[in-house]
Amino acid sequence: MKKKYALAALGLAGVLALAGCGGGGAGAAGGGEKASGDKGDLLIGVSMPTQTSERWIADGEAVQDGLEEAGYQVELQYAGDDIPTQGQQIDQMITKGADLLIIAAIDGTALSSQLDAAAAANIPVISYDRLIRDSENVDFYVTFDNYKVGVQQATSLLVGLGVLDQDGKDTGEKGPFNIELFAGSLDDNNAHFFWQGAMDTLQPYIDEGVLTVPSGQTDIEQAAILRWQQETAQKRMEDLLTSTYGRGTKLDGVLSPYDGISRGIITALQGTGGLGATIADGLPIVTGQDAEIGSIALIDQGVQFASIFKDTRKLAEQSVVVAEDMLEGEEPEANDTETYDNGVKVVPSYLLQSDIVYKDNITSLLVDSGYWTQAEVDSGVAE
Ligand code: GAL
Repeated sequence: MKKKYALAALGLAGVLALAGCGGGGAGAAGGGEKASGDKGDLLIGVSMPTQTSERWIADGEAVQDGLEEAGYQVELQYAGDDIPTQGQQIDQMITKGADLLIIAAIDGTALSSQLDAAAAANIPVISYDRLIRDSENVDFYVTFDNYKVGVQQATSLLVGLGVLDQDGKDTGEKGPFNIELFAGSLDDNNAHFFWQGAMDTLQPYIDEGVLTVPSGQTDIEQAAILRWQQETAQKRMEDLLTSTYGRGTKLDGVLSPYDGISRGIITALQGTGGLGATIADGLPIVTGQDAEIGSIALIDQGVQFASIFKDTRKLAEQSVVVAEDMLEGEEPEANDTETYDNGVKVVPSYLLQSDIVYKDNITSLLVDSGYWTQAEVDSGVAE
């Protein structure tokens, strides 16, 4: 691997020649200077999945700003959650002479041909947040501890139900509680990690009878929401309410893996479900992830119970560190070299930690750290 980075660092003219595009893109601006390794002549392609979720907008901007501050040229593209569009955008980055790619995939299995082309042109690839699968040519993975995120989601559900206290200790509460389970998009590797972490945490309580899933839908395939879509989640929740909760069966909690999905679920519960406007009124406990401002406001208002805060500023920063190392011919620091097997190889990874957000730590986690302002928390809108 080292060899490859070294090539990327010094052989920039060579990289362009290999890519068959010497003089194109960044090369056109830099020409001969590029071979001397001037950072300003290096182009980094950043491919993000969608702008419909505010986290990816923040991720894209933070990665771009960090790379530009470090002196690189950046091409940032969003693919509108459309798999062919993402493929084309990456192809174009390669044709333009990108020297490194940072990719958050829509479908983790759909980029093999782009990654083959990148490898042929000696362009290192960093998989961002979501693991790119089935390819030898993923050089590094920067992400959060995704299994632990799932554990935290399930933990927050158990806290909301009163089975655990906020320190994670068993309260002795035996329920039984009726819950339903939602998962993310099956083509996103993360969805499986979140689910595994959550189910490993919930299963003992299900086995003990503290938790029941009245719909019987306990497989990830049944719980999955394609592309993490809010509307799809709302529809599934409405269907569950109709099929399972018509006759006096009370729903107590819902495991949700992402704030957009949570808001879809909450809309269904407040509407068709008529289950109260807030938790205090009888609205079931709903979990989440990403600390999106719309959901943070709902947590503050006692509507959504919790979310998981993954500080995307840190993820962006880490990806810049890794990119710089690679372009300078250094081996980037990994803190996990076992967990993320992409089907072809174990990808060296750098994992960041996440926190559960409850109503009472919004200020300390999100406002004090400058992630959201108090005004944003109050309005539920990012400024
Ligand atoms: C996952 C990501 C989550 C959430 C979700 C929906 O891949 O890890 O944080 O953003 O996608 O966008």
